[in-house]
Amino acid sequence: MILVTGGAGFIGSNFVLDWLAAEGEPVLNLDKLTYAGNLASLAALRGDARHVFVQGDIGDAPLVARLLAEHRPRAIVNFAAESHVDRSIHGAGEFIQTNVVGTFKLLEAATHYWQALAAPEKGAFRFLHVSTDEVYGSLAPGAPAFTEDHAYAPNSPYSASKAASDHLVRAWHHTHGLPVLTTNCSNNYGPYHFPEKLIPLMIVNALSAKPLPVYGDGRQVRDWLYVEDHCRAIRRVLEAGRPGETYNVGGWNEKPNIEIVHTVCALLDELSPRAGGGSYAAQITHVADRPGHDRRYAIDARKIERELGWRPAETFESGIRKTVRWYLDHPDWVAEVQSGAYRDWVAAQYGSALA
Ligand code: NAD
Ligand code: DAU
Repeated sequence: MILVTGGAGFIGSNFVLDWLAAEGEPVLNLDKLTYAGNLASLAALRGDARHVFVQGDIGDAPLVARLLAEHRPRAIVNFAAESHVDRSIHGAGEFIQTNVVGTFKLLEAATHYWQALAAPEKGAFRFLHVSTDEVYGSLAPGAPAFTEDHAYAPNSPYSASKAASDHLVRAWHHTHGLPVLTTNCSNNYGPYHFPEKLIPLMIVNALSAKPLPVYGDGRQVRDWLYVEDHCRAIRRVLEAGRPGETYNVGGWNEKPNIEIVHTVCALLDELSPRAGGGSYAAQITHVADRPGHDRRYAIDARKIERELGWRPAETFESGIRKTVRWYLDHPDWVAEVQSGAYRDWVAAQYGSALA
């Protein structure tokens, strides 16, 4: 089996579902169930003996050691993290705790476990660390996209904590020989995305007749990748990636935020017309910019294509249509995540008009 951490979050839950459908190999899913963890995203696996869920912290060394000894996974895929830039600006403590200290504790436990494995299992073991393009900082317009050799220059507390975790992973390979793989991916979108992030926030706010808050001029550029493509990339890196290497993963899909918001509005206009008429775009509101907001990210994904034959399968047009459709078809999932704690966050970030 494999151990997946953070498998109840957005990408982790998509990965667990994709993994079991594609590989069928059992998954031990360790997730703390923070506000971002949601077992409803894994409802399709209820009663499926191939999925073992444990609520717990990657930083809980005795728990992780016990789970490794009991379940003897052949690989660890580490998704667990605090992942939202805006929350890291409000307070970075949890980001340091999970992304830095938690990754360190997980690496220590993994190393002890791996060192004691017998030869064939030891050679085959992998620790795959899921990271982000944000560690590279911000690109000037027209500058070449991030390659794996781009210098790290994280600008937010979130990206600094992820950069620290990437460095720890690298060091555990270099010093202890732990067979690690790191993936640095661009912005994901798709089903089960928590509505604090741009695309799901715009969908749920539009449908609730609330303002669509665009930070600053909305000209910031992100490189969007449909989440299933990311999951396929991780499976491929786990299967054939070279230990000690990093792989950039992206959608070849740079778009300014304001264009994303207009696309979401146009799809909603078509699929779920606004009560009273007019376009959802009328709800777009420019609000204060994110402090330290990175202007542009873009991933050069040629290494993973050259070495491992991975390319995104989904176009942005097909992926965003599927995503909007998914949110329209899953009002119960949306209602459940919009709990009291979610409303507290929206009020803290955007003020009472949006809460
Ligand atoms: P998410 O916030 O939706 O989910 C994170 C999950 O980790 C949650 O289920 C949460 O309960 C769990 N978790 C948090 N702290 C934990 C701890 N201490 N121990 C165990 N579990 C814990 O995040 P996501 O968007 O799914 O991102 C997953 C990973 O991918 C993160 O490492 C993130 O940095 C990285 N990443 C995300 C994106 C993106 O666009 N969302 C892009 C590139 C990389
Ligand atoms: O690049 C990969 C990263 O993508 C991941 O590492 C992070 O975990 C993930 O959260 C995401 O970070 P971003 O900050 O890019 O995602 P977010 O959805 O928060 O914002 C996307 C862009 O939209 C960003 O430029 C900020 C802007 N934005 C966001 C929100 C929530 C708005 O204009 N308004 C908003 O209300």
